[in-house]
Amino acid sequence: MNEIRNVGIIGAGQMGSGIAHVVALAGMKARLYDVSEEQTQKGLARIQKGLERQVASEKISADDARTAMSLIETSVEFSTLGDLDLVIEAATENEEVKRKIFRDVCPHLSPTAILASNTSSISITRLAAASDRPEQFMGIHFMNPVPVMKLVELVRGIATGDETFRASKQFVDRLDKQVTVSEDFPAFIVNRILLPMINEAIYTLYEGVGSVTSIDTAMKLGANHPMGPLQLADFIGLDTCLSIMQVLHDGLSDSKYRPCPLLVKYVEAGWIGRKVGRGFYDYR
Ligand code: CAA
Ligand code: NAD
Repeated sequence: MNEIRNVGIIGAGQMGSGIAHVVALAGMKARLYDVSEEQTQKGLARIQKGLERQVASEKISADDARTAMSLIETSVEFSTLGDLDLVIEAATENEEVKRKIFRDVCPHLSPTAILASNTSSISITRLAAASDRPEQFMGIHFMNPVPVMKLVELVRGIATGDETFRASKQFVDRLDKQVTVSEDFPAFIVNRILLPMINEAIYTLYEGVGSVTSIDTAMKLGANHPMGPLQLADFIGLDTCLSIMQVLHDGLSDSKYRPCPLLVKYVEAGWIGRKVGRGFYDYR
């Protein structure tokens, strides 16, 4: 398997742009894909803003930021995937969307390329089966915001080969992030623990135990969380939170994972959090 030099990222949303950001800062080339140029341009603008924040707080130099930007390109055509060593899918958390991406992407990949998913919850074994290369398929799960969060969960599917795991770990090491390994269970480790807490916070609001601000203040000042759970839900995206809860509920068949009806209602209303300007808080 080749050394990883060129990385493709499918989905230029908050996670895809964050992954391209850290890949380029580590000196690798990043190519960001999405369904339209409007989306890839939004992704690029997000990266530029994130790099500027890091320059302002003296985490990196202005030169580092310029070099990183010069290593990032965008595309909306999967036919350009052939020169990539690793392709990380970071599109919407929906199994059908991801399966279709793998079907469309695979014919264009180099035979040695590793294919990975940044899914928050969906079975890596099932996603791998929708590709043409289950042995070269990995779960590489970054945390949000990618440029700030230290952890990456690595998840092997049943068919993932040792060489694919080794190359993926080496890739994450080069990003200066800490690996934790999770077995392929619904929502892995972080979201198996975090999302039921967020869902419970939404039940706490739904049942009138406290207001949005009392719940978030309680957890920020009473449990030392950097963000309250409702603010964090808005930050993750309520669509993503609901998808993760549905995967937990379906996959573990336990009513304790039932998504809160208020979460369902907010998603149905399109109030999916910070990325659209409205969730539990109003960002407009
Ligand atoms: N890009 C680049 N740098 C960024 C950034 C971004 N998007 N956001 C923040 N930073 C940097 C800034 O440079 C800043 O550095 P300085 O303090 O030296 O200036 C530093 O990060 C901290 O940022 P801020 O001071 O602006 O904000 P903060 O101190 O309030 O921290 C936060 C922001 C890191 C997001 C913090 O609120 C936090 O840790 N929140 C919880 C995040 C969390 O739990 N993430 C996991 C979500 S779950 C998940 O990701 C898995 C899933 O599948 C759903
Ligand atoms: P997002 O909504 O910000 O971005 C998703 C992007 O995928 C959008 O730009 C969308 O246009 C694009 N997309 C959808 N269908 C596509 C297709 N067929 N081809 C190419 N691009 C397509 O979502 P996000 O928060 O960046 O989440 C992306 C993935 O990362 C999800 O699997 C999510 O579960 C996972 N994740 C999210 C977080 C988080 O906190 N938000 C953390 C870790 C992992």
